[in-house]
Amino acid sequence: MTSQTEGSGYLVRAVRPHEWAAVKALRLDALRDPVAPLAFLDTYEEAVARPDSFWQDRAVGSGEGSERARQFVAEAPDGTWAGTVTVLREEPGTEDWSGAAVERRQGHVVGVFVRPGHRGNGLIGALFDAGVEWAWEWGAERMRLFVHADNGRAQGAYRRLGFAPSGLVVSFAKDETENELEFVRER
Ligand SMILES: CC(C)(COP(=O)(O)OP(=O)(O)OC[C@H]1O[C@@H](n2cnc3c(N)ncnc32)[C@H](O)[C@@H]1OP(=O)(O)O)[C@@H](O)C(=O)NCCC(=O)NCCS
Repeated sequence: MTSQTEGSGYLVRAVRPHEWAAVKALRLDALRDPVAPLAFLDTYEEAVARPDSFWQDRAVGSGEGSERARQFVAEAPDGTWAGTVTVLREEPGTEDWSGAAVERRQGHVVGVFVRPGHRGNGLIGALFDAGVEWAWEWGAERMRLFVHADNGRAQGAYRRLGFAPSGLVVSFAKDETENELEFVRER
């Protein structure tokens, strides 16, 4: 799936299974963002130490053609990957990656990142459009994501894109502080 973001010159598309090196490079840049400790569960040090096979598996598992997950990127006119979102497919009766029961057929948005020079221009909306469209194709009833209570900018973007807090608050941190808010967007 590809789409040209109107008037912007970005090409939003799914990653291809062989593009693991670019997937890795974008993730490592995301993990060096000042907001990374709030935004992502892994660290730069953990990620950079992973073997190539980890990134190869990720690119195949969430690349074009995979039914389990789909990573979308926005390519700028110079070829830079300017931003990304990944949608995980969740089915009722299964457990999500954190071990919690899944009760609805839904798309779970993770790995949301837009490079600083490309923020505030609507690109995040184009990336979400691609991810949501993919999830509606396989019958998702809703979209959900988790966002840190202190990540105001991300929350602002998600609200503008039609998401709202569900009331569920969880902790992924080792200190068990409950600080991740579930945001949902019904179909
Ligand atoms: C989160 C991210 C993808 C959003 O993309 P973006 O292009 O920066 O988002 P936008 O600028 O379009 O939207 C942010 C909104 O929040 C508002 N905002 C900015 N800072 C804010 C703050 N501290 N508190 C509340 N709202 C804030 C903005 O005004 C804007 O709302 P508006 O369009 O209604 O004016 C991007 O900032 C990013 O990659 N951040 C680092 C990684 C990250 O946090 N990922 C999310 C993990 S859950």
